[in-house]
Amino acid sequence: MLIKKAEFIISNTDHKKCPLPVLPEYAFIGRSNVGKSSLINMLCERNKLAKTSVQPGKTQLINHFLINKEWYLVDLPGYGYAKSSKTSRAKWKKMIDKYLTNRQNLLTTFVLIDLRLPPQSIDTEIISNLGVSQIPVALVFTKQDKLKKREVDTNLENYKKHLLESWEELPPIFVTSAKTGKGRDEIHNYIEKNNPVFTPVQQADNPFKK
Ligand code: GTP
Ligand code: MG
Repeated sequence: MLIKKAEFIISNTDHKKCPLPVLPEYAFIGRSNVGKSSLINMLCERNKLAKTSVQPGKTQLINHFLINKEWYLVDLPGYGYAKSSKTSRAKWKKMIDKYLTNRQNLLTTFVLIDLRLPPQSIDTEIISNLGVSQIPVALVFTKQDKLKKREVDTNLENYKKHLLESWEELPPIFVTSAKTGKGRDEIHNYIEKNNPVFTPVQQADNPFKK
């Protein structure tokens, strides 16, 4: 897929103020620092479209990016940042839950997982909650460049085994590196295949209609 245009549209805390849900949308969720914003830049082949940082907690809002004027990518704030207060964690949860459960044009939520770590309950809970809400999920393992090939294979197999203890089927899985571009073509192909699945929300049903 050729990324001809990638534009930042709007940042929000309120799902009701997001762009009209008239184009297919893909959201990126995961722990703080897992590499959501870096992955968005890698997918768009732009260095500074989404803001990244070595410090966790960089992305604080729901950020919409319009790609090729055809579909949206959404960068979300990360969860599980140890230094964040209980109040800010509760705020995060409310904001993200509302976005995820109300966004009618959301075709897939990509859950990002650091490939270097064994399965973390905070991630598997998010995956389960999305499953319960029937929000389609794909898993993206990040920072593949930081591991040796053998470690990638072992960690991936462990993760799949862990998921199959509670799931009958595995979701689509991508292994990526924002550094080398690994996984870009696979995710582009996935998005290209899924975009036609989207049928614009009937205007009559559209709660955002003015
Ligand atoms: P929050 O916005 O805080 O939730 O974080 P985020 O998930 O958006 O992470 P971000 O993209 O800002 O990246 C965090 C750090 O990880 C940065 O220092 C990135 O350069 C680094 N990083 C992200 N992806 C990769 C990757 O694939 N490989 C390597 N080596 N570093 C990465
Ligand atoms: Mg970020």
